[in-house]
Amino acid sequence: MTIQDFVKLLRTRWLIIFATVVVAVVGAVAVNLLTTPLYEASTRLFVSTSSGATLADTYQGNRFSQERVISYTELLKGETLAQRTIDKLDLDMAAEELQDNVKASSKLDTVLINVSVLDESPVRARDIADALSDEFVVMVRELETPPDGTMPNARVVVEQRASIPDDPVTPKTTRNLAIGLLLGLLLGVGLAVLRDVLDNTIKDRENLEEVTGVGLVGSIPLDKERRKTPAISFESDNSLMAEALRKLRTNLQFLAVDNPPRVIVVTSSMPSEGKSTTAINIALALAEAENEVVLVEGDLRRPRIHKYLDLVGTVGFSSVLAGQTDLEESLQKTRFPRLTALASGVLPPNPSELLGSETAKKVLDELRGRFDYVIIDSSPLLAVTDAAILAASADGVLIMARHAHTKRDQLAHAVGSLRDVGAPLLGAVFTMTPTRGASSYSYRYYGETTTQSASEKSGIFGRFRRNLSEHRRLGSVGPRA
Ligand SMILES: Nc1ncnc2c1ncn2[C@@H]1O[C@H](COP(=O)(O)OP(=O)(O)O)[C@@H](O)[C@H]1O
Ligand SMILES: [Mg+2]
Repeated sequence: MTIQDFVKLLRTRWLIIFATVVVAVVGAVAVNLLTTPLYEASTRLFVSTSSGATLADTYQGNRFSQERVISYTELLKGETLAQRTIDKLDLDMAAEELQDNVKASSKLDTVLINVSVLDESPVRARDIADALSDEFVVMVRELETPPDGTMPNARVVVEQRASIPDDPVTPKTTRNLAIGLLLGLLLGVGLAVLRDVLDNTIKDRENLEEVTGVGLVGSIPLDKERRKTPAISFESDNSLMAEALRKLRTNLQFLAVDNPPRVIVVTSSMPSEGKSTTAINIALALAEAENEVVLVEGDLRRPRIHKYLDLVGTVGFSSVLAGQTDLEESLQKTRFPRLTALASGVLPPNPSELLGSETAKKVLDELRGRFDYVIIDSSPLLAVTDAAILAASADGVLIMARHAHTKRDQLAHAVGSLRDVGAPLLGAVFTMTPTRGASSYSYRYYGETTTQSASEKSGIFGRFRRNLSEHRRLGSVGPRA
């Protein structure tokens, strides 16, 4: 994976990353809210011993104090002192509980001891710290006074008393949030990479061409408008989708220069991959270029053409094949110039049989004689072999794959069933490719510049880009060797 791939991955899967970060940060906030705040109050004790008259004595005295300091820090954390403090303040807690909240430490080579006490109440933290220190002073005096009642060997003074702490020491709000954010980011990126690894849908040209074994001849962008009106009116339409279809039309003409395919089956592996919509618009794109085109409904199971083009569905291919109507009277003029359609007719019980019949071959041959192009919409290949059967009477097949939806194995299976019957595959077409956001970046990859933002289109930069892409198109159309 290159850095570009990684950046692309992050952009495509930003939602997972964002969601994980939100969950982690909310978790951190919850931890902050649920943690009981604890306040810390500190005092400082000074340990002194009676200094000697000579330098050597002073040195001895110092060493003596430092050894004392180490013992005192232990005593400060001890049960005896805790109990004495509790008794003095009349606290409602066990000695052990208080011990857990007392810390005492000293810096090496000093005679200072820092004592800190944690408590849920800032005032009580201060009171305990002070009482504990005072008690300790008394305790040391008792311990260090020799039995004969002479001066004690060492003595402790409270050098600095505690004050009421302003802010709690736990929870560490900012730190917890930072940890939440970081963990969320790491986990999110991890999940994004994992999803990418597990994702076996087809998203780029290389993959599509590898699975189908033929070149990419078109990328039809997603266009929400097509859900309402599947057919593009080419005279007035300069949308990305219309442009993509014009490009596809040009590529078709280059597919076999000596004998360009004129009877073309449009199919895909699964339902709802845009076969019918794309078939209609390929037909319209060809009609725009002054060709007489007939669009044949070859999907006799879930016919859509008559619905998408507002035609009569009950007369059509199946009734011609069953000998109920003749071809001439079954063809319907559409509202588009130069586009004729043959709808499905009543749904037959045996579509595969009808489509594989000699009559079907004759009908298609007759259409080939009368029109410049015959575009046949068909059923998905994973469900039934109708498309492969139709392909036998056609010049070739265009196989569609829905961008980021069609899975590698589904497409491979579909291509396999076409190859099994020796159907010539003309090329592969991506349908419903995203036009905005992260994935649209992949277009430059496909060598198809279908992505342009409104500002790019109008600006100088946009014009430059369009010229560039035109230049590239002219230089790169045609089937790949
Ligand atoms: N390029 C596109 N942009 C947006 N929606 C599309 C596009 N192509 C097809 N669709 C929508 O996808 C759905 C399935 O399309 P259809 O052409 O009927 O697929 P199929 O024939 O493969 O079952 C329909 O709702 C259609 O409007
Ligand atoms: Mg369909």
